[in-house]
Amino acid sequence: MADSTSGPGAAAEPPRRVVLGVSGGIAAYKAAELLRRLTESGHDVTVVPTEAALRFVGEPTWAALSHNPVATDVWTAAEQVPHVRLGRQADLVVVAPATADLLAKAAHGMADDLLTNTLLTARCPVLFAPAMHTEMWQHPATVANVATLRGRGAVVLDPASGRLTGSDTGQGRLPEPAEIARLAELLLRRPDALPGDLAGRRVLITAGGTREALDPVRFLGNRSSGRQGFELAAVAAARGARVTLVAANVELPGPAGSELIPVGSAEELRTATHAAAKDADVVVMTAAVADFRPAAPAEFKIKKTDAVPASIELTGNPDILAELVQARSAGRLGVAVIVGFAAETGDRHADVLSHGRAKLARKGCDLLVVNAVSEGRAFGREDNAAVILAADGSETDIPLGPKSVLAAALCDAITALLPG
Ligand code: C5P
Repeated sequence: MADSTSGPGAAAEPPRRVVLGVSGGIAAYKAAELLRRLTESGHDVTVVPTEAALRFVGEPTWAALSHNPVATDVWTAAEQVPHVRLGRQADLVVVAPATADLLAKAAHGMADDLLTNTLLTARCPVLFAPAMHTEMWQHPATVANVATLRGRGAVVLDPASGRLTGSDTGQGRLPEPAEIARLAELLLRRPDALPGDLAGRRVLITAGGTREALDPVRFLGNRSSGRQGFELAAVAAARGARVTLVAANVELPGPAGSELIPVGSAEELRTATHAAAKDADVVVMTAAVADFRPAAPAEFKIKKTDAVPASIELTGNPDILAELVQARSAGRLGVAVIVGFAAETGDRHADVLSHGRAKLARKGCDLLVVNAVSEGRAFGREDNAAVILAADGSETDIPLGPKSVLAAALCDAITALLPG
């Protein structure tokens, strides 16, 4: 995925103090990679493992990779009052992996070791990356604890799905360290992107470009890479949202904390979007949905030896964004904020913004993000410039910059429209 929040130049930023809490799960070994990424970005990281975490990965590993002393209890170097100092000084606390036990202690304000004490004294953003077996994640006790923590403004990622420790598979894997690191950077670098202002909100994002079959191997498609939608998913998750990401043909790793629903065609995207919109507070349609599809895709591959088709008959696809707006007007959908994207080029009749304003009125959504896409801008690139048009007539200009910055500005605009 485009990493616009780290990489060259990151070390030039002032070092930030990060506490990396590690609790006792097998995924503790993956926290070593997360630690390496955080220190390579120039941050001053203090690792605070629990007793149980040290059974999986020993103290020398954490000390060597962090270049800092490691303590688990509140008694080591007690003259420095570490249980207060670490939390107070931290710019960010990341707990990865966060076990069910650690989440329970944090939710109930228990403080029986250095990590849980630090969580009580920290006033900075706190990011939990849970990892556990599916049953433990789905247990009502864990569900309630996660809701409590999110309600207090902590960012609690949803675990990824896949192979677990045994031969079983399911939801419970630690999100990829690179993705956790990326969210950590976002929380460190965007103090205005307040973690927690989307806490408890369900945000549905569509991303990528649909493919409309001509035959089983050929399709009509478009150039959308899905980057902007994936950036938005990462930022919304960092701000506490529960994100569902309907991704059409996107070749990027799923952002941490998002439930990924892969789709292919506009029709598949439509079905997935309508289903997920039922529970959503916010829907953001960044996907480039094909407006037309071949009316009669061939059942079998069209052979070179077949007669060259003189023309391809197309039929219109439904406008999903407009359908969502209609469903809300008819009282069938409770979504509070609906956002569209418009990739525009000016033409002989009007400029990009006039097209955008007309489209906002036509679609009836609350916000429309207008991109100028001429001269190779926007598609597949890591930066973007846009204007966010609101139904009340206001306009926010986002100058050319990383897609994560546009994503954060869009989250600001969305948050402002959400009922309290
Ligand atoms: O009309 P236009 O395709 O430019 O509108 C773009 C916006 O409408 C995007 O938010 C896109 O996701 C959405 N859209 C849609 N269904 C379509 C076409 C576009 O939801 N069939």
